[in-house]
Amino acid sequence: MLVVLKRDYEEVSRQAARLIASAVRRKPALTLGLATGGTMVGIYDQLVRLHKEEALDFSRVVTFNLDEYLGLAADHPQSFHHFMRENFFSRVNIDPRNVHIPDGTIRGNYDQYCAGYEEAIRQAGGIDLQLLGIGRNGHVGFNEPTSSIGSRTRLKVLTRETIEDNQKSFPSAGEGPRCAITMGIGTILEARRILLMATGASKAAAVAKSIEGPITSAVSASALQLHPDVTFLIDEQAASQLTQREYYRQVLEMTALLTPERLS
Ligand code: PGA
Repeated sequence: MLVVLKRDYEEVSRQAARLIASAVRRKPALTLGLATGGTMVGIYDQLVRLHKEEALDFSRVVTFNLDEYLGLAADHPQSFHHFMRENFFSRVNIDPRNVHIPDGTIRGNYDQYCAGYEEAIRQAGGIDLQLLGIGRNGHVGFNEPTSSIGSRTRLKVLTRETIEDNQKSFPSAGEGPRCAITMGIGTILEARRILLMATGASKAAAVAKSIEGPITSAVSASALQLHPDVTFLIDEQAASQLTQREYYRQVLEMTALLTPERLS
């Protein structure tokens, strides 16, 4: 687990975009796992900038988003389909046929639909690089606390905390969705490489538990400790409750010296 400490949101966004860009340049048909949420906005802005200024080419990239709210159609302004279109897909040369986001409008046969999503990931050769944010409760995707570490794509009931955090996107009370379709933790752990971004003091406790706490289904992101190639890219505020910051800085220095490809 590589912990990369950056000064602020801007630096985290730039570094994340640089990592993604070099993965795309190394493998133009990269299978990229994507995430939504406020943390991701800056990263997508940076990727759009690299597309415009440095001709970063997404034409062969295949994407799979982590999750979508149940009950929201693709054109709903609070849907993750809409978020992805507005923040990223409509601004780069991605082929719409290569884009996959769980369908929030499915009714019944959830298991069958979710198995199909997993099958599509397999057919695409598996996810090369998975982006993740983290919730205040440690969720990744919508894998709320007590999600099985072996879980697969499925229907998931959202916690009160997540519903409240998301309420800002759903201004009128009671309007927000209570369930989602999300990749599971087991699905996420099969990605070849994982990049988790966290910024701001509200994420500090979840980040510390995920990196330095025990592996527990009470903190879904702690399951990432089981993965051989995870990078946590975090700003100073999100890092503030980590006890081993000095060690992470030393590791970073040596990584830059000995295995710089892990940082690019
Ligand atoms: P945020 O969401 O980036 O909007 O904080 C992250 C998450 O809940 O996974």
